[in-house]
Amino acid sequence: MLRKQVELNKTSMIEREVKKQLDKKRFQHTVAVSYLAAAMAMCHGYDIEKARLAGLLHDAAKCIPPERKIYLCNKYNIQMTEVERSYPALLHAKLGAFLAMKKYNVHDDEIISAILNHTTGKPDMGVLDKIIYIADYIEPNRRRAPRLPEIRQMAFRDMDRALVMILEDTLQFLKDNNGAVDPITQKTYDYYIGQQYGGNHGDNIDTNVKTRV
Ligand SMILES: [Fe+2]
Ligand SMILES: [Fe+2]
Repeated sequence: MLRKQVELNKTSMIEREVKKQLDKKRFQHTVAVSYLAAAMAMCHGYDIEKARLAGLLHDAAKCIPPERKIYLCNKYNIQMTEVERSYPALLHAKLGAFLAMKKYNVHDDEIISAILNHTTGKPDMGVLDKIIYIADYIEPNRRRAPRLPEIRQMAFRDMDRALVMILEDTLQFLKDNNGAVDPITQKTYDYYIGQQYGGNHGDNIDTNVKTRV
């Protein structure tokens, strides 16, 4: 009981601090992801507080200006790819995971992994990785993505199928808009489509560097 109270106090403190670091719109998104992640945790039998905390921290580095993102990665020896140097927005997941540990003193491996992988996904994600990846895409303030009603329903029935729908639409969107892309997104899609259909079912969308930010 006491442990639970301490956890709740820590989450509230982190929420107040995160609010200072984000603009209004990003903070609204963050809170929405946090509570949606908690609801998905209830549905899929995962730790509610951990889901809430991961949601709160997933975009902690989002509002850091691009040059400062690069400066911080250099300063703290965070590896950057050439693509990340060219599109520093892509660094917010890595930097967010770093801030979660260094600034917010959160060291839970599953929370750190969920923050780290929330833009690209990765093959063989853990439950919290999936919750945050999906909640980030479908939270109620999101309006533009196609198939949102179907994906929102699927998120509470079958997370792997929801993942495939999101990855498919993300890859298609980036292809149509010449977006910056991380190859891991394609690998993640191939992995999950293979899980569901035994492979050879994807359209092999041609991607170089794609990601969702
Ligand atoms: Fe993000
Ligand atoms: Fe986000």
